[in-house]
Amino acid sequence: MFSSSTLVYSLSLFLSLSLLSFLFFLSSSRRDILSPADELDDLKLFHRAAVSSNNRRLISVSHTPPPKIAFLFLTNSDLTFLPLWERFFQGHEHLYNAYIHADPSSRISTLLSSTINAKFIPAKKTARASPSLISAERRLIARAILDDPNNLYFALVSQHCVPLHSFAYIHNHLFSARSSPQSHHQSFVEILSDEPFLPKRYAARGVDAMMPEISFQDFRVGSQFFVMAKRHALMVIKERKLWRKFRLPCVDDGSCYPEEHYFPTLLSLEDPEGCSRFTLTRVNWTGSVGGHPHTYGANEVSPRLIRSLRRSNSSLDYFFARKFSPESLRGLMEIADDVIFRD
Ligand SMILES: *[C@@H]1O[C@H](CO)[C@@H](O)[C@H](O)[C@H]1NC(C)=O
Ligand SMILES: *[C@@H]1O[C@H](CO)[C@@H](O)[C@H](O)[C@H]1NC(C)=O
Repeated sequence: MFSSSTLVYSLSLFLSLSLLSFLFFLSSSRRDILSPADELDDLKLFHRAAVSSNNRRLISVSHTPPPKIAFLFLTNSDLTFLPLWERFFQGHEHLYNAYIHADPSSRISTLLSSTINAKFIPAKKTARASPSLISAERRLIARAILDDPNNLYFALVSQHCVPLHSFAYIHNHLFSARSSPQSHHQSFVEILSDEPFLPKRYAARGVDAMMPEISFQDFRVGSQFFVMAKRHALMVIKERKLWRKFRLPCVDDGSCYPEEHYFPTLLSLEDPEGCSRFTLTRVNWTGSVGGHPHTYGANEVSPRLIRSLRRSNSSLDYFFARKFSPESLRGLMEIADDVIFRD
């Protein structure tokens, strides 16, 4: 039974690969920065991750290892807040894995692997206003699934993110319903449907470009930053139908933020009840300039700021916040033990 499903899976992989080459042939746009070779690579990786998780399901586990959180660092430059993350992770080595998607030539790959024991995922080209960020995020998820079957939550963070709570607090709250089976873990993915800019975002690839797979009524937006349960992570790497549309280049760059739409649209179509519809990463859009949120400077860092950033409308406090300026690191380190990691 298992081998027949593998056969079906391989066949559908083969078909989607053939279709893909055909699509590449049709749309060899200059603005399309995902190369066919990169995408083929990704498809093979996603397939391997999906198969590995199928195989593991056949093995009965007699003991239950502690569930881990996979931290997915999406960065292309330095990790300014590394000292804070080091302190955050300290003493919890058996409860997390960290993965970093960065350019192989950057200093960060060696830095991170030596301090927080992060595994390095070589980056492919990414750019704003292109689907390359979706690819990078799916690549991180797939590597984390392959790497450790005990990764049960997948938290996406960037180089501008800082923690607002201790590791223990975050781990306890994610896995708090101790008796609740993995199949009930909720994902923290923001899902919004009534933003005024949504029609323009929907039409960013052309008026009817998303049809028939994605109607405007099904199109959603949400924060790029998520904490995703494993069953949804698997859904994301197996997904082909929506990706075929989201990978198309935009004709309107000003309304092109595929990474803010792909995950919320997919999860709201496939399992709306399994999602909180809230993100756990706080961001301050008040007075934003050029699509960038407010960046907290050194003089704004205080115990009061941390406490106010934690407050949310969801059932959980915010876990992380962005953006903070590099100069704010010192102030954050000073209040780390007494405020940020005290909860
Ligand atoms: C959000 O940013 C604005 C400045 O753009 C600032 O005045 C406000 O205090 C910030 N809000 C919070 C909750 O930090
Ligand atoms: C919570 O919801 C209220 C009412 O919609 C809103 O004014 C407030 O800004 C929200 N707070 C946060 C932290 O998102």
